[in-house]
Amino acid sequence: MKKSVLFVCLGNICRSPAAEGIFTALVEKAGKSSDYKIDSAGTSGHHDGENADPRMMKAARKRGLELTSISRKFIKKDFKEFNYIIAMDNSNLSNMAALANSDGDHQKLLRMMDFSSKALEGVPDPYWSGDDGFEEVLDLLEEACQNLLDKIENE
Ligand code: 4NP
Repeated sequence: MKKSVLFVCLGNICRSPAAEGIFTALVEKAGKSSDYKIDSAGTSGHHDGENADPRMMKAARKRGLELTSISRKFIKKDFKEFNYIIAMDNSNLSNMAALANSDGDHQKLLRMMDFSSKALEGVPDPYWSGDDGFEEVLDLLEEACQNLLDKIENE
């Protein structure tokens, strides 16, 4: 059984594609790619079929990461397909919780910032920000994704 991790934000073009790319690179570096299924999704579906936001792709590329995700909407079936479902902020979390059918579904929902040393409620939405916002998101996600991987590997 593969370990399966789904990162979720609103549009699936900024934060969750970055988290997916960073987590995938960490798993590769750890030599554990064959153990994992990793994906990302958005609760809105408004950007379905789009590549990641060009500003996020550019910021990630500067760090050696090529973001390949295509935006798709989070659906109920994702509760069956993934063991760990990681919300970027509390709004994403409550949108997904509204689709959960069981205690087991609810238990799969985790908050990205619970794996960060920064006291922030959620990963800030960079969509309306300048370049600094994208750098801040990548900084936060690099730390939180490493902590998430450590937690999963230690279970
Ligand atoms: P994301 O960012 O949830 O990190 O992908 C956003 C992308 C698009 C919009 C908002 C946030 N939007 O309003 O279109």
